[in-house]
Amino acid sequence: MASVAQVLQPVEADLEVLLGNLRDLIGAGHPILQAAAEHLFQAGGKKLRPALVLMLARAVAPGDPMDPRQRRLAEITEMIHTASLVHDDLVDEASTRRGVATVHHLFDPRMAVLAGDFLFAQASWHLANLGSLEVVRLLSRVIMDLAEGEVRQGLHRYDSGQTLEDYLEKSYRKTASLMANSARAVGVLAGLPEPRLESLYRFGRQLGMVFQVVDDCLDFTASDQQLGKPAASDLRAGYLTAPAIFALEEDPGLAERVERRFADPGDLDAALHIVRQGSGLERTHALAHGFAREAEAALTWLPPGQEKAALLGLPEVVLRRLN
Ligand code: IPE
Ligand code: IPE
Ligand code: MG
Ligand code: MG
Repeated sequence: MASVAQVLQPVEADLEVLLGNLRDLIGAGHPILQAAAEHLFQAGGKKLRPALVLMLARAVAPGDPMDPRQRRLAEITEMIHTASLVHDDLVDEASTRRGVATVHHLFDPRMAVLAGDFLFAQASWHLANLGSLEVVRLLSRVIMDLAEGEVRQGLHRYDSGQTLEDYLEKSYRKTASLMANSARAVGVLAGLPEPRLESLYRFGRQLGMVFQVVDDCLDFTASDQQLGKPAASDLRAGYLTAPAIFALEEDPGLAERVERRFADPGDLDAALHIVRQGSGLERTHALAHGFAREAEAALTWLPPGQEKAALLGLPEVVLRRLN
């Protein structure tokens, strides 16, 4: 089984270039705003989304030099993602991200709102400068989806009647939309025909769903240190993700505790125990597996090569989150 680093190896040098460019791209703003916006970039992150864009760009045009617009797209994708994290952490009142203090924690909530806006706006500016109206449409849709996903998640807090469909819809908007639409944008910039654009979108979408579903399992099973962000925090905040939704079907006692917002002492620990002991996590793994297989099936048409092999290995690696 390959590691993330091995799978990303074909675009390792491209990711180095990306890191250098990202800092320049953020451009001049007020020093405080700039420091706040740069804070999370400096902390790193897995760079999965830009790696996906760069790998797809190489895979659809094997042997060609990288189109500078594809590089810029990868950078924009990481900017949008990072902006969404700055806002997500504020909404969630999370204290750490990428192993460092969150922006709202280190600076203050007002600054985090503005720093997130600043990053979204910078991303939009660079997007417009790519000169493809179609790509602008795809990526601005993502920014709408991100906001709508957060709102949907907020509206369903502590809602034990939430369905798996609600959860999947929310996950598409918060996570899969960015991967799906950036993947499609790679194809648009490469001038591919509609059926190819559709399969690139599908690959990104299903990969994004694997990613979110796995993240939601890890919230129950991993430590703060492993994640670089607070673990066991979704249920506490009233966010019912797939493992909890499955557990609710099995144990009616869970709904009661959720509905009273874990008000009684011991409620939260008991609820976490119910989710961890039942078959919810296993069923969630199976759900993620299904998405991973669908992602792989979407790329069979790619010309053979190391990029294709790497892309086909990506869903499995995300499934295992070996980093
Ligand atoms: C975090 O994404 C948000 C989710 C979709 C779960 P990542 O886990 O890719 O975050 P970084 O970029 O590596 O920090
Ligand atoms: C996705 O979901 C995050 C964004 C798209 C901003 P989560 O809310 O699960 O992300 P984490 O767990 O805070 O990283
Ligand atoms: Mg969050
Ligand atoms: Mg999460």
